[in-house]
Amino acid sequence: MQKLTTQSEWIARAQSVLPAGGFGNFDPGIVIARGEGSRVWDEDGNEYVDYLIGSGPMLLGHGHPEVMEAVLEQLPKGMTFFANNAKGIALAEAIVEAVPCCEQVRFVASGGEADMYAIRLARAYTGRNKILKFEGGYHGMSAEAQMSLAPERRVNFPQAVPDSAGIPQSVADQMLIAPFNDLAAVEALLIEHNDIAAIIAEPLQRIIPAAPGFLQGLRNLCDKHGVLLIFDEIVTGFRLAYGGAQERYGVTPDICTLGKIIGGGFPLAALGASAEIMQHFDKSIVGGDKWLMQLGTLSGNPIAAAAGLKTMEILKRDGSYDSLRDIGRRLQEMQSSALDAVEIPHKICGDETLFDIFFTTGACRDYRTAKHDDPARNATYNKALRQHGIFKSPGKLYPSLAITAEDLEKTKFAVEQAAKSISPT
Ligand SMILES: Cc1ncc(COP(=O)(O)O)c(C=O)c1O
Repeated sequence: MQKLTTQSEWIARAQSVLPAGGFGNFDPGIVIARGEGSRVWDEDGNEYVDYLIGSGPMLLGHGHPEVMEAVLEQLPKGMTFFANNAKGIALAEAIVEAVPCCEQVRFVASGGEADMYAIRLARAYTGRNKILKFEGGYHGMSAEAQMSLAPERRVNFPQAVPDSAGIPQSVADQMLIAPFNDLAAVEALLIEHNDIAAIIAEPLQRIIPAAPGFLQGLRNLCDKHGVLLIFDEIVTGFRLAYGGAQERYGVTPDICTLGKIIGGGFPLAALGASAEIMQHFDKSIVGGDKWLMQLGTLSGNPIAAAAGLKTMEILKRDGSYDSLRDIGRRLQEMQSSALDAVEIPHKICGDETLFDIFFTTGACRDYRTAKHDDPARNATYNKALRQHGIFKSPGKLYPSLAITAEDLEKTKFAVEQAAKSISPT
């Protein structure tokens, strides 16, 4: 019989061919062999309840039968065309129907690309250059997005600090950084700088909720100063509600970006806006000077579109979002109870559909305040969760619709053990 490769052998192989031993995404100390429903298995056969769900896309769980059927139906018809195809067009229609700010959409292959084009589109439309971004806001890997994403050094606002090597100072010079949830700071910047094209924001910044009135305040300020409002809905789209954060919070941006769920687990993302803004992708309307050249080999890929379309069809069914919120609420409650029982100060931060625990007594308002009082506690807690069969990132917990009563029981036990592992007594 052929000897199976163990997880530690895979890890060693990865270390020789991948920088830092991994794809850059997640702890390279685990190698996932397969996923099914709410569970994933590593290469040693260890089973986990999956609260990472591919960093968000697998909201229905792994291998949902209806999504599989849609993909398998498309596969023999063709995998990619670099041309318009019915599945991509139907997906665009479904997004336009669901998402308030979208009259038209343009497909790309990743969320980071969508954010990069959203920024470029705002510049093309307004004829201005500067972009206001919030400290700690994540918008992919473009040069602009790498500004003050996770700065270790505190500088004065609105100075932008790159979080990556290889970015010229000229990019930082076009960026203004503000603290999330601080309307007064945003207003002051808008008054001081009349060359701001857009404010880009995650409507739920990582897991930090917008304070009541903050998003509407941004909307009002943007309108007053002729600035476009971009909501990065790569995570929140089709998660917080079918129409995303803009539906949930009742604030419509000018441009939004979508990814993760709309590709059903395949590489697909999009940006969308009114037809008036999106006309900058149409040279025949705006002319060469105002045209955004944009194309991509996998844009509108039919397999991804088929998976995304089916995922959205399932999410649209009655009760989906109530169920998701119910699962999230139970996961929050079980963690709070377990930590209360061992008297560990903590705060649950986020939305029922996406959240995590902060081991803090402080506020959860912006990048600088949403910090663990004791980061080691977070590491120990998450390590114990992993040891007890829970797969999640140390900064986020993504509930999925695949979670069963049995998964919740298993999670409850793991959470109780993890809470005890950090208990001071
Ligand atoms: C809010 C947000 N924007 C953009 C991105 C980038 O998306 P992608 O990883 O598909 O490039 C992510 C990825 O997690 C995200 O969370």
